[in-house]
Amino acid sequence: MRADILRQLIRAHAEGDEPAFRKAALQLAAAESAAGHTKIADDLRRELAELPPASRRASVVDIAHPRGELADVLEGGYREERLRDIVLDDATHGQLAGIVRENRARAMLERHGVEPRRKLLFFGPPGCGKTLAASVLAGEMGLPLMTARLASLFSRFLGATANHLRSVFAEMVRRPGVYLFDEFDSIVQARADSNDVGELRRVATAFLQLLETDASPSLVIAATNHPELLDRAVFRRFDLFVSFSPPSSAEIAKLLHLRLQRLGIGLDDAQAVATVGVGLSYADVARACDDAIRSMVLEGRQALDADSVRRAFEAARSRGETQQGFQSRS
Ligand SMILES: Nc1ncnc2c1ncn2[C@@H]1O[C@H](COP(=O)(O)OP(=O)(O)O)[C@@H](O)[C@H]1O
Ligand SMILES: [Mg+2]
Repeated sequence: MRADILRQLIRAHAEGDEPAFRKAALQLAAAESAAGHTKIADDLRRELAELPPASRRASVVDIAHPRGELADVLEGGYREERLRDIVLDDATHGQLAGIVRENRARAMLERHGVEPRRKLLFFGPPGCGKTLAASVLAGEMGLPLMTARLASLFSRFLGATANHLRSVFAEMVRRPGVYLFDEFDSIVQARADSNDVGELRRVATAFLQLLETDASPSLVIAATNHPELLDRAVFRRFDLFVSFSPPSSAEIAKLLHLRLQRLGIGLDDAQAVATVGVGLSYADVARACDDAIRSMVLEGRQALDADSVRRAFEAARSRGETQQGFQSRS
């Protein structure tokens, strides 16, 4: 595959096609990071960023932006998130760090006849970091995060869905990245559903076959809030299951501290306020932190104190209780 990229690079140079040259060079960098050569990849990207534009018309082509038919179905970009930006229990954090290490050491592992684990199933309630973790993996490995847009996958012509899936899996070979299928249960649930149409079942079967035969350098992540909807045949296809849970009081304190430290919230303050937040998701906690910052700015203050953060958390909790009230009434 790298030989192909080198050929494109040379052809682009010969034809003076600057966008194609940059695209091939970025692909080369992505192939190097997928092979675990992150230093070489970083060097290549830096060199490329420092190249002066060949002509005024030349524009940098973002290789993470798919074209043609795939443009509707895949959404991509490089990510800034790192492991230090996500708060998780030790076991889950350790799993993510392990995946990064394995995939960086891909070349070395393959010399010994083993592969890094790269087909991952993320599960857990909403707002607990599944999507964020996919960004973190992409950011740590210098690969683009490519998210499959399920709505476009399924919309319009159901008959085209299996073909779209096939193009996405073909893209994983051509363009190394972290490929995220969010709300994955909606793809495979059809298998468990007795009154589904045959077409949906074919889509689910196609996905599982594609996943099973995939030997690309990409990471494939399926994320779901409803693992109970998946059957054993689905679980079998993955290398690793990663469970995301709502935060404990200690984890809430960590996230609070991470987000509000620069505004004067120390670890002691964070721990004191965190107990008010038990029962909230990480996403709720992040939102409450933003609320506290908004009030601070609007009230003309320069820093936060434990009391104002506590008020934001109490508001977040009563919002949650109101929502639950609505849900149980309906
Ligand atoms: N474990 C976490 N650590 C830090 N922030 C988190 C975490 N989980 C969620 N968040 C915050 O909430 C937002 C939404 O979370 P997301 O990853 O989309 O949850 P999920 O995919 O599990 O529904 C994130 O962008 C982030 O700001
Ligand atoms: Mg999500």
